[in-house]
Amino acid sequence: MGRAMSEPDWQVDSRDAVSQDIDLERPSAARMYDYWLGGAASQAVDRELADEMIAIDPGVVEIARANRSFLRRAVRYCVANGIRQFLDLGSGIPTVGNVHEVAQQVDPACRIAYVDIDGIAVAHSRALLRNNPLATITQADLRESRTVLSAPTVAGLLDFSQPVALLALMVLQYFPDLPDHPADILARYRAHLAPGSFLLVSHVTNDETAIDMSALAAATAGASTHAHLRSRAQIVELLGDAEPVDPGVVAVQAWRPDDPRQARAGALTGCYVAVAKVP
Ligand SMILES: C[S@@+](CC[C@H](N)C(=O)[O-])C[C@H]1O[C@@H](n2cnc3c(N)ncnc32)[C@H](O)[C@@H]1O
Repeated sequence: MGRAMSEPDWQVDSRDAVSQDIDLERPSAARMYDYWLGGAASQAVDRELADEMIAIDPGVVEIARANRSFLRRAVRYCVANGIRQFLDLGSGIPTVGNVHEVAQQVDPACRIAYVDIDGIAVAHSRALLRNNPLATITQADLRESRTVLSAPTVAGLLDFSQPVALLALMVLQYFPDLPDHPADILARYRAHLAPGSFLLVSHVTNDETAIDMSALAAATAGASTHAHLRSRAQIVELLGDAEPVDPGVVAVQAWRPDDPRQARAGALTGCYVAVAKVP
């Protein structure tokens, strides 16, 4: 379908970038996560594994909620520190408080490029963003950084000569060290970022956690949703030369909490986060 003459380049539909096939036979990370957050996009097959994981440890829901709360705080931090552009990799099914809502509430001029591989996440995002000229969704495999960075929906929207906040929240865990090399994936994006950009990362761990992360990860073994737990040291490595801002690489609830009581609960969460500044 042709697009309207008045439509800017970055609104070009990227539907052709990868297959539109939506796999409803196997659990999807995007839809399970949506289910834990109270969304309505999941299928029975997703809920079955998601419920199995809740039965193993209900803390899995707490992690999802704490991660979204971190996203909102971190985006507000970035806007307060001059960032007006966001590239959200593995952005997920839209839920309450998406990046564009948080950022554009502070400054409506903020531009946000979302990227996800999941057809349902992309369809929901496309519907939500229909009337938002400064936010796009690109369906792509984030491991293919060149494809992502050159997509009209990304390259046409974001100005990479200016700082960008790059989000990789709760997604790098789906990539094993071999063959994916998640640190290299992030480094390829980081090489494209102007000084003063930020990397925002959240990642599951079984360091110092009361939540049975190993059992939860084991439940996903063999599925495309299999999560690879990493230690704090491994998560620090993902950041490369970007320097974590205060308070550093910490438990998700301990990162600049709105309520200090959250910080005290933070050691138990099973998820590390960081906002790191690109030198
Ligand atoms: C647990 S959700 C996290 C969503 C969001 N980033 C957040 O933190 O709230 C993980 C998302 O990563 C997406 N994802 C997984 N592998 C991907 C890949 N290779 N390329 C792009 N997105 C991917 C999934 O489809 C899913 O939407």
